[in-house]
Amino acid sequence: MAFFKVPSCGVLLLLFFIATCFLFQCFAAEVEVNQTARLLVDASQGRLIPETLFGIFFEEINHAGAGGLWAELVSNRGFEAGGQNIPSNIDPWAIIGNDSSLIVSTDRSSCFERNKVALRMEVLCDSQGTNICPVGGVGVYNPGYWGMGIKQGKTYKVVFYIRSLGSVNILVSLTSSNGLQTLATSNIIASASDVSNWTRVETLLEAKETNPNARLQLTTSRKGVIWFDQVSAMPLDTYKGHGFRNVLFQMLADLKPRFLRFPGGCFVEGEWLRNAFRWKASVGPWENRAGHFGDVWMYWTDDGLGYFEFLQVGISHTDEVDTSAVLPFVQEALDGIEFARGDANSTWGSVRAAMGHPDPFDLRYVAVGNEDCPKKNYRGNYLKFYDAIKRAYPDIGIISNCDGSSSPLDHKADFYDFHIYTSANDMFSKTHKFDHTSRTGPKAFVSEYAVTGNDAGTGSLLAALAEGGFLIGLEKNSDVVAMASYAPLFVNANDRRWKPDAIVFNSAQLYGTPSYWVQQFFRESSGATLLNATLLTNSSSSIVASAISWEDSENAKSYLRIKANMILQVVNLGSSSVNLKVSVDGLGPNSIKLSGSTKTQLTSTNLKDENSFMEPNKVVPSLTLLENAAKDMDVVISPYSFTSFDLLRESVSMKMEGTDSFSRSSI
Ligand code: AHR
Repeated sequence: MAFFKVPSCGVLLLLFFIATCFLFQCFAAEVEVNQTARLLVDASQGRLIPETLFGIFFEEINHAGAGGLWAELVSNRGFEAGGQNIPSNIDPWAIIGNDSSLIVSTDRSSCFERNKVALRMEVLCDSQGTNICPVGGVGVYNPGYWGMGIKQGKTYKVVFYIRSLGSVNILVSLTSSNGLQTLATSNIIASASDVSNWTRVETLLEAKETNPNARLQLTTSRKGVIWFDQVSAMPLDTYKGHGFRNVLFQMLADLKPRFLRFPGGCFVEGEWLRNAFRWKASVGPWENRAGHFGDVWMYWTDDGLGYFEFLQVGISHTDEVDTSAVLPFVQEALDGIEFARGDANSTWGSVRAAMGHPDPFDLRYVAVGNEDCPKKNYRGNYLKFYDAIKRAYPDIGIISNCDGSSSPLDHKADFYDFHIYTSANDMFSKTHKFDHTSRTGPKAFVSEYAVTGNDAGTGSLLAALAEGGFLIGLEKNSDVVAMASYAPLFVNANDRRWKPDAIVFNSAQLYGTPSYWVQQFFRESSGATLLNATLLTNSSSSIVASAISWEDSENAKSYLRIKANMILQVVNLGSSSVNLKVSVDGLGPNSIKLSGSTKTQLTSTNLKDENSFMEPNKVVPSLTLLENAAKDMDVVISPYSFTSFDLLRESVSMKMEGTDSFSRSSI
């Protein structure tokens, strides 16, 4: 079962930007290259687009969180990744020294009840005597997730727990990948009595240099036995101090998403139920989170990210819980909802309050399962969840895994989940997918969509343009499509489990794929008004277009936006353009301002062009002034392009569909 929410505060405040609402309609048609098409827009009438139409789906896949959005630099910080049996593998931790200078092992002596495994370091060498420690000492290091991205002048908070049989003298250092260059260091000295029991140590390291491939070292030149556990290194500078890597979070904020789906996807379920994500193990103090191995995407997560979000499943990919035995899982879900929404005095709300968030979160939707409709026990289990959640929280929208786009669902639901991964041509044609869906009954949540396979590579312009056509179709059908999000959101380029993705990063670099940038064309759509628009053309290639009216909440200006997404279905038609004659009715004279109107275009020389760390801006939107902005204007739509024209309006006055009222706003 997955939980979806519109965060109410803190890290995702941007999700609450709500534009003035109006009306709309989009059209898809086919057009000959080198021909003139006409777009007739009626700006006097429109239909509201849901305020939560476009959002984001965050899944712990491709190290999106661990080694990604979550700014923790240490991987396997509690030494639990090698399993609960000892001796265990401490990977990616590695040893500095050899077996004549130290013996490193694991035991189960930790003070943390959920994570009993600790690192035991027996130092055989010393600073004097017959077995002198090598220069710099001996110990262990952690390379993080394919190297730690350390920046000159930034401060890093290192926290760890130690216990020792004697006094300790430890160097905590950020170094280059071979340990030869020290970027920052701190000396921890403590008497035997100070560390005879488990003791928390905290130190700040300010980096003298930048290194994208750094590591954290714990070293000593003093003979003795030291235990380490729960070693964390975090930059002080995270998004609003919430622990999110600034640059990656900013990429999300720039999309102005209106909802967040979290945390999966298949990650939620586990290949086997025993490896599913368990929300109760991911809340409370970070030191006491067990972490777990995600056996679908095949990597360990320390579960540092996940303490406001949670999820519990009754079905995994491989094993299913029988409906007669599913009630404990239902209770787990109810507890999870109470954690998010319950009063600060409730059983689970008090756990949230103790973590520093007494106010409830704005959890609005719960999805039961992930792509599980065909499974034997799905409907039976779904109904148990549905009834229990509705009884306790009647306002929560329940999302079924079964597709209701072609025929009505055979069970109660507020929404149904719709996923599509397909070729570019098919995605583009799916601009019509919801045209014939019943206008009554549960609405669609298109929670995962993307062009995949050869057309997409690791993120091509072709994929983005086809998705743009699909998104225009969702705008058009936003009376029956409530929410939509691309998937997957992130990939750490060092461990690509799925391609393509919207945002690519490593320890020091990042870029958006063309699919990321096409989503930016829709960030003003949620809460805007879709206008009636008719595209007149004839065919052998494809062009789809829409017109919305939206208001910029930052400057209170109103715009009329025309989006034209042209993608040739027959690739050998070459690089010809379409002349589009736009006529907007329902506006007074001089109602479009020349200055301030713009054209934004996403295109490139080759349909298969991609961005990369070397060329992060090869395929990004370009913004130019629209010199001939007017109610009647001729514009050129380049081949292989997504183009939007923002016409700045003097004032807005329009009739809302189904009402007798007019809305007006002025600048
Ligand atoms: O987005 C990647 C995966 O695709 C998701 O985990 C799953 O829901 C879908 O199959």
